[in-house]
Amino acid sequence: MKIFLDTADINEINELSESGLIDGVTTNPSLASKSDKSFIDLIKEISSVIQGPISAEVTAENLTQMIKEADKLRKIADNIAIKVPLTVDGLKCCKKLSNDGTMVNVTLCFSANQALLAAKCGATFISPFVGRLDDIGIDGIDLISDILDIYDNYGFETQVLAASIRHPLHVLQVAKVGADVATLPPKIIKQLYDHPLTNKGLESFLSDWKKSGKKIT
Ligand code: G3P
Repeated sequence: MKIFLDTADINEINELSESGLIDGVTTNPSLASKSDKSFIDLIKEISSVIQGPISAEVTAENLTQMIKEADKLRKIADNIAIKVPLTVDGLKCCKKLSNDGTMVNVTLCFSANQALLAAKCGATFISPFVGRLDDIGIDGIDLISDILDIYDNYGFETQVLAASIRHPLHVLQVAKVGADVATLPPKIIKQLYDHPLTNKGLESFLSDWKKSGKKIT
């Protein structure tokens, strides 16, 4: 499973990029609004740090303006994926951009039918929002599983990018059903590797080693 960072915080991106664990970055207008940089400069900087797909979302709601914004964004770097909402204009924009060979991430997906349409429009990625479905009592993991089944039935190559991940259990669950990608807030990535028994075991190893007086020389 590929891991993308779900943030527009360049400091967090720089810190985690050194781990070699980060396969891409997703941003959205809410995350980008927290940055003090212009959106173009922000995406330019992120795309220079991480070599994988960098999702930059259009904010226009009609096709004509979406295309104009997408043209500005995809000129930034070859690894830009244009993020469009799952609306009729977003799907039309997806079709046009994917026909041009531009990566498209169709976002704000909350049903398998929506995901089917996105795949038919040539989406590179589909972003079902697991956490926001869980927030209203609908099992977001079931949606991921349904989309994967549908895509397998018809050989769609659209990658299922599990989004709106709230905790490490979501990561485990989407990995078990076979999501292609999970986009994680930096805090959750740190929770994945941090385990109290690992820390306790290491402390015990090093304490015994120190008592032995031995050295690796
Ligand atoms: O960035 C897309 C998605 O991951 C947003 O998640 O936490 O705002 O529901 P969230």
